[in-house]
Amino acid sequence: MSIVEIEQLTFSYARAMKPVIQELSLVVEQGEIVGIVGSSGNGKSTLLRLIAGLEAPDSGVIRINGVQVNGAHTFVQPEHRGVGMVSQDYALFPHMNVRSNIAFGLHKQSRKERAQRVAELLELIRMEGFEDRYPHELSGGQQQRVALARTMAPRPNVVLMDEPFSSLDAELKHSIRRELRDIVKAAQMTCLFVTHDQADVEAMSDRYIRLCKPQLVTL
Ligand SMILES: Nc1ncnc2c1ncn2[C@@H]1O[C@H](COP(=O)(O)OP(=O)(O)OP(=O)(O)O)[C@@H](O)[C@H]1O
Ligand SMILES: [Mg+2]
Repeated sequence: MSIVEIEQLTFSYARAMKPVIQELSLVVEQGEIVGIVGSSGNGKSTLLRLIAGLEAPDSGVIRINGVQVNGAHTFVQPEHRGVGMVSQDYALFPHMNVRSNIAFGLHKQSRKERAQRVAELLELIRMEGFEDRYPHELSGGQQQRVALARTMAPRPNVVLMDEPFSSLDAELKHSIRRELRDIVKAAQMTCLFVTHDQADVEAMSDRYIRLCKPQLVTL
């Protein structure tokens, strides 16, 4: 089943400017990890912002889990798209411990369900016993895993990651790539991630696309 379907997507930040994304089409299947590579300024972050609903396209269609989220008379708000985003700097809440960070998106659930989901995710990221720690008491790789767990907690249709390894040193980056892949695969999550590093996509993704300027070439 296709989780993300993009057809002929075109977007420019201003009418007078050349499109950043031009007639881009892409399909991501359930459970796939797809990398997006390309040089700086080629529209990688913009593409994620369009999928998340932080920007509206000029033309084209985006469907998430079979539901059209944009169009002439349609715009599904970001919080209703079932899209999770892990930002580059993880953006963990510094005043909340690991447990509260992971539970953040679970406010609609009962206390018991919340606790159960947090326990499940702690096991998945292999961080049982860390629930009372604060972000500053964690290594970069641990923070990265908690950020992923927080994003996955409400079971989004798709997880988007923008340069997920950019603040990690080379050695840590090497090990966390495989770890993140295993975590995402174990949870059968669908994931689209952006990187400028070819080695990232080779280690982490099932396949990748390269954004060129201004059209897309699929490899
Ligand atoms: N809010 C904005 N207003 C106008 N132009 C923008 C805006 N955000 C980005 N751009 C431009 O759109 C183009 C694509 O930007 P984007 O951030 O998507 O690139 P990127 O591929 O993510 O680059 P990087 O690898 O450096 O993060 C760039 O030329 C950028 O200058
Ligand atoms: Mg970017």
